[in-house]
Amino acid sequence: MSFSIPRGTQDILPGDSEKWQIIEAKAHDLCRRYNYREIRTPIFEQTALFARGVGDTTDIVQKEMYEFKDRGGRSLTLRPEGTAPVVRSYVEQKMHGWVNQPVKLYYTGPMFRYERPQSGRMRQFVQFGVEALGSADPAVDAEVIALAMEFYKELGLNNLKLIINSLGDKESREAHRSALVNHFAPRIDEFCSDCRARLDKNPLRILDCKVDREHELMTDAPSILDYLNEESRKYFKDVQEFLEEMGINYEIDAGLVRGLDYYNNTAFEIMIDGEGFGAITTLAGGGRYNGLVEDIGGPETPGIGFALSIERLLMALEVQGVDLIREHNLDVYIAALGEKARKKVPALLHQLRAAGFSADADYMDRKMKGQMKAANRQQAKYVLILGDDELAENKINVKNMQDGTQSLEPLENVEKKLMDSGIEKGDQ
Ligand code: HAM
Repeated sequence: MSFSIPRGTQDILPGDSEKWQIIEAKAHDLCRRYNYREIRTPIFEQTALFARGVGDTTDIVQKEMYEFKDRGGRSLTLRPEGTAPVVRSYVEQKMHGWVNQPVKLYYTGPMFRYERPQSGRMRQFVQFGVEALGSADPAVDAEVIALAMEFYKELGLNNLKLIINSLGDKESREAHRSALVNHFAPRIDEFCSDCRARLDKNPLRILDCKVDREHELMTDAPSILDYLNEESRKYFKDVQEFLEEMGINYEIDAGLVRGLDYYNNTAFEIMIDGEGFGAITTLAGGGRYNGLVEDIGGPETPGIGFALSIERLLMALEVQGVDLIREHNLDVYIAALGEKARKKVPALLHQLRAAGFSADADYMDRKMKGQMKAANRQQAKYVLILGDDELAENKINVKNMQDGTQSLEPLENVEKKLMDSGIEKGDQ
């Protein structure tokens, strides 16, 4: 019997996992600078949270959820996204009562969607996302967008396109909604069954339909931007001005509606321009969701956030030839010959690792030549050569592999000698 990995998932192996670590470290560092703090929520939640939060007319809820019953008969779902769980936690943990407002949170972790796998579209993927809850200041919208753009910039990506739109407040959305119904109703029979159901429930979703996207009614559908009331219009303008002052370029696309139901006012996506990226060009998406906290049972609270997947980021880095890591190499390799010398190795490794060096030794009973080869393969910066003769005098050979020099040192000096050598510990 042989086993294979489930469709739409991947193993991340050494060589790639280092890239993930660098990206995750960047996320932590960036959020520290923007004053967002990490939240970790469970990988599964009550199914009803997503039906309510993400919206039961969305593809995610209708077609893509990994839903299961536990042994107690409860309906649970592997989280398809991070916003609804964060908001659930915000309400349950009464974060609206925290002294520091707005509450600024971030997360990284696996999400699950039963989608048709293709490059950049996985069934398990890792999102990095942020959520800012408790402020309706357009400066927060600009901050969230800036954080997302800065993340890509600091990792070395170019040719990004920021697309923004406003979905308006409740009043504007209702006006737009009626216009959409009037527009589509007379010819709704020409649309797919999903769209026919959407007409009453959520006509905005029709604009996001993958089946009917070529229908002629799509091109001249009423634009939300023509239905924004004064307040929504001003809000959108303010966000744009903040972006301009930060020197962040953007394009407005009135057709950007996003695939989740909770958005209002600001919506945005970051796309990658250029060849070699295939069909999927959206790297990140987010927006404002002022009604969501209330929908999930909390007090009326504004919120905004975004999420991106690390898988798509890695694709983009690869297409643009950005190399995140140099070879993984070792600070120190210990080559030992003779029974007594070998006995000494584990304690010496332990000491060096505790001092912060990356260190390894032979566990395959290799001869000296084989050990030196292993040290070379792993690009060790130093090799410590220990034989029974040296050990008898409490000494060890320290060989600098970069310039080939070698010196015999008292054993107790080794750590200091390495410290003084100027190697940067754990340098990758
Ligand atoms: P979303 O647009 O569904 O929004 O997903 C955000 C990002 O997750 C996408 O732009 C993409 O990078 C990545 N992504 C989505 N599905 C997949 C997939 N199947 N494979 C690989 N990557 C994928 C949200 O999830 C919202 N929660 C974002 C948000 C946060 N809005 C406000 N706060």
